[in-house]
Amino acid sequence: MNYLLIKQLHITCAVISGSLFVLRGMWMLLRPELLQHRWVRVVPHVVDTLLLGSALTMVALSGQFPFVLPWLTAKVVALLVYIVLGAVALKRGKTRAVRSLALVGAILVFGYIVAVALTRLVVPLSW
Ligand code: HEM
Repeated sequence: MNYLLIKQLHITCAVISGSLFVLRGMWMLLRPELLQHRWVRVVPHVVDTLLLGSALTMVALSGQFPFVLPWLTAKVVALLVYIVLGAVALKRGKTRAVRSLALVGAILVFGYIVAVALTRLVVPLSW
């Protein structure tokens, strides 16, 4: 399979994943009942699986490995932080204040991941 095609899939999934997360975050604050729709519980998981699957495929095809290349390590660690903050924001946070804080944190971490992807720097200040 063509590497550029997989990278395109990865970028598309990243855009859809980030947009769906912001949308669900807004619903969590304003219309929590909408989070119960079946598609809202299924589609983000499918997109996130494709996002990670395409990432792992590129890692295997290009031989650029996390825990060898610092920028890829940073992406993996930040992804784990994003997943935890995302779960607190959309589900696990007990109060609205905790969920809102986690939501802002998750969006900032997502922005960091994109900045690292674009610059390939752990501290992407030149972005
Ligand atoms: C929320 C999670 C993620 C987002 C938003 C994201 C976003 C992106 C974006 C925007 C690019 C394109 C950069 C460019 O234009 O050059 C990219 C490339 C890439 N990402 Fe991700 N990514 C995520 C997770 C991951 C993870 C966990 C890994 C590794 C395990 C990974 C591995 C890669 C690789 C290998 C490339 C291609 C680098 C290249 O050959 O140019 N990504 N990512």
